[in-house]
This record gives sequence, C-alpha cells and structure tokens, in this order.
Amino acid sequence: MGCKYTYVNFTDLNNEELLLVFNWRNNYEVRRWMYSTDLVELDNHFNFVERLKTDKSKLYFLVKRNNLPVGTFSLTAIEDDEAEWGYYIAPDYHHKNIGVEFYYYVLEYIYLNLKMKTLKGYALTANKSANSFSDLFSFSKVISEFKSSENSDDEYFFRELTENVWREKVIKNKKIERLLELTVNSII
Ligand SMILES: CC(C)(COP(=O)(O)OP(=O)(O)OC[C@H]1O[C@@H](n2cnc3c(N)ncnc32)[C@H](O)[C@@H]1OP(=O)(O)O)[C@@H](O)C(=O)NCCC(=O)NCCS
Repeated sequence: MGCKYTYVNFTDLNNEELLLVFNWRNNYEVRRWMYSTDLVELDNHFNFVERLKTDKSKLYFLVKRNNLPVGTFSLTAIEDDEAEWGYYIAPDYHHKNIGVEFYYYVLEYIYLNLKMKTLKGYALTANKSANSFSDLFSFSKVISEFKSSENSDDEYFFRELTENVWREKVIKNKKIERLLELTVNSII
C-alpha cells in the first residue's frame, strides 16, 4: 500500500474542504498553540482564503495522506527563498503516530517543490510534541526574545532549518527512515 502525501493550495479547495479546515482551525487542540487563540468567524475564514489569491507573501496548503485530509501547513512572511512555517495535524489524527511522516513529507515538499532555502518557526516552549518533532528534524533551537515580548506569559523557541542542514541531517537519516517504516502501511 505505502503512503503518499499530496498538497492542495487553500485557493483551490472546494467548499467542503474549506469548512473542514475552518473546523480544524477552531478546534481548541489546534488554536491553543497559535499566535491568535481566538475563534475565527466563518466569513473571516472565507475572506482570508480569498485574499490569499493575491497575497504573494503567504501560502497555505491542505495536506492529504493517501487522499485523506490530515492537516495543513503554511508559509508566511515569504521573502525570496525564506519563510516562516506553521502547521498542524487535524485533531482526529493527533497521537496516531503520523507526526514523523507529516514532518518528513511536508519539509520535502517545501524544499524540493516550493524551493525554499531557509525555514523559520516559533513554537511555544510548552508545546512538547511540536518541539520534539523539531528536535528530531534538526531545527536549531533558541529562546525567542522577540515573540516572548508580545505576551509576557508566553515563551517561544525560535527554530530554524536551512535546506543544507535538511539535506545533511534529515535525508537518509537512519532513525527517521526507521520511524517512517513503522507507519508506512498504517491505516489511520
Ligand atoms: C504538534 C503535533 C503536530 C504533534 O502531533 P501528534 O501526533 O499529536 O504528536 P504526539 O504528541 O502523539 O507525538 C509526540 C511524541 O511521539 C513521538 N512520535 C510520534 N510519532 C512517532 C512515530 N511514528 N515513531 C516514533 N515516535 C513518534 C514523537 O517523537 C514525540 O515524542 P516525545 O514523547 O518525546 O514528545 C500536533 O499535536 C498538532 O498539530 N498540534 C496542534 C498544532 C500545533 O501545535 N502546531 C505546531 C505549532 S508550533
């Protein structure tokens, strides 16, 4: 069977898929880790996707595993070949062990298809799962002064991965290869 990841730009989603993403975004398990934890209104969601059609600084994708929608990822603040990334797995598929696959194939798509060279990200230090995956995938890690200053209660790690480090440390990484083999035939 194997597992195949595909990506659909938010601007190409049908109404059913737009609603699916809307519900994921408003699920507490997803929004609790975002910069804005507020609920999004449906109108705003549709307007946001409409604006993406002309905004060259942002890309949002629905991620499918064997044709099943399992999450999203985004590139924002895109400047040349650098961007900030964000991602989530759909609430139904948290703790189903697809995180390694999700990270692996999304990063491959970002570097090989979207031709990025430097990926930056911020994760709340309390977000153990996200930081554990970023560690496994060799992202650098420092406490972010910039993000912490916006809300004194929140502490973020600033994390970065260049294409070169990705090629050296992720592609053909034996541990990651072994983990990918564990889920390649899983039905989720
Ligand atoms: C962050 C997120 C992608 C993690 O996915 P998940 O499936 O919920 O991850 P889990 O908590 O089950 O897995 C995390 C742990 O299991 C391990 N794990 C997961 N899949 C595995 C696999 N196939 N093989 C071995 N270990 C695995 C991870 O290495 C990690 O280890 P740890 O115990 O040392 O922390 C997901 O929870 C999510 O989308 N959250 C909401 C949004 C979000 O936080 N986005 C990131 C913002 S920075």
